[in-house]
Amino acid sequence: MRKIKNIYQLLLVSISLILMASCSNTKSNEEKEYVEVKNNSNDITLNSNCPPGFQLNENNECVARNLYDQYVYDTYENRGVGGLKSGLPKIREGFSPQQIDLGRYLFFDPALSGDGSVSCASCHDPNQGFSDGKALGTGIHNAKMKRSSPTLWNVGYLKSLFWDARAGSLEQQMLGPLYSEEEMGNTEEQLFETLNGIETYRELFAKAFPNRDYNDSIQLHEVYTSIAAFETSLISLNSKYDQYAHGYHEALNENEIKGLNIFRSFVARCAECHTPPLFTNQQVAVIGTPEQDGLPLDPGAEITFNDPSRRAGFKVPTLRNIEKTAPYMHSGKFKTLREAVEFYTKGRGHAVPEGEDLFIHWHIWEPNLTDTELDRLVDFLKTLTDESFKPRIPKVLPSELKTKQNNS
Ligand code: HEC
Ligand code: HEC
Repeated sequence: MRKIKNIYQLLLVSISLILMASCSNTKSNEEKEYVEVKNNSNDITLNSNCPPGFQLNENNECVARNLYDQYVYDTYENRGVGGLKSGLPKIREGFSPQQIDLGRYLFFDPALSGDGSVSCASCHDPNQGFSDGKALGTGIHNAKMKRSSPTLWNVGYLKSLFWDARAGSLEQQMLGPLYSEEEMGNTEEQLFETLNGIETYRELFAKAFPNRDYNDSIQLHEVYTSIAAFETSLISLNSKYDQYAHGYHEALNENEIKGLNIFRSFVARCAECHTPPLFTNQQVAVIGTPEQDGLPLDPGAEITFNDPSRRAGFKVPTLRNIEKTAPYMHSGKFKTLREAVEFYTKGRGHAVPEGEDLFIHWHIWEPNLTDTELDRLVDFLKTLTDESFKPRIPKVLPSELKTKQNNS
């Protein structure tokens, strides 16, 4: 019986490894597709292949494919919250390769902002884990934002967006930055005018949205669809952790495995909220993190849900590529992962300002983790890094403005 089980395990591992190898093959092919040798925006063409991690179907739609497809998404029942073999929730998919690639250009193009100076990538830079390395985001005319810029890796799986969960879709979310005076400072009228004034964009949109007349003007909903399409292509599911989870035991070393076991233990309880494989259960939780010095308490999800019991509640963030996105928390208060992790062992409610009576989540308590255990947790969190599907940054944009990001 034991032997049969072993053979079965071996078989699974080999299948997984083959799958992984074929994934990385697609990657290198795709990368070639993405290399741009153009210097003139008139030469820009849209990729007709799906990004890595997606497969083209007969309707010219990209459908997500990954190793987690073999597990059913069953809201963790019977698998334990730290379960290695749990499935992923449904992803937004079905965009065409052309829409995804057009979204890539839009994402990096400062022409989308009021004065041509800020793009989505200014605050969500692929070279900084799709964040910006700052505690609080900085927008147009150096306006300071109230919260830190979250990563966009795996954002296509999320049901609600923003730290306070106030947006229900990617399309709804992006209206925030596009038209906020503190971020990209644009207006619908101006964005419409700008894009329709750029010949290359008119051609590219006509190709990405072939169901309308070629000479019709670009519609704003097409802009939102394309950017959302690009965002859903940012997949990170092939980290050392994922290889371990699919049966390749050597992918993690001894310290990292110790860290994983602390992470999913009933003492630390991290996995109750940062549930694999996304490392978020997508719920809002009040955990009582501190603000930047001198700033008032951020009411967070209390406003979204008009519910005082959610005061200072925030969406549980993913921990994928967490190594790349310091500083941490909605406030950017913690400069290192070690500091962020240590927060959890300093005592329930220790950072809550006087006079506030927050409904702190019952999984936040006093696990009394030792320094060594905190170090192991950090070791483990670093195994969640995978940027192999990082998209190419366009060398030339349809607007012919310059991107501030470099391919590296
Ligand atoms: C000036 C910096 C800045 C710019 C520009 C910007 N963002 Fe953001 N982004 C942020 C910050 C800060 C947040 C968190 C705000 C909050 O939760 O209240 C955020 C949140 C998000 C989220 C939610 C992620 C999550 O996990 O909930 C998405 C998606 C996103 N931005 C996409 C975009 C797109 C697309 C653009 C371009 C249209 C863009 N952002 C432009 C700073 C920026
Ligand atoms: C009750 C749910 C809950 C539990 C349990 C929990 N977290 Fe969190 N975690 C959150 C929430 C909510 C945030 C965002 C809080 C904020 O921004 O103020 C967060 C943020 C983080 C961040 C920063 C993420 C970022 O992008 O800035 C790290 C790192 C982290 N948690 C690690 C851990 C570890 C390690 C444990 C176990 C010791 C743990 N968490 C336990 C809910 C939880």
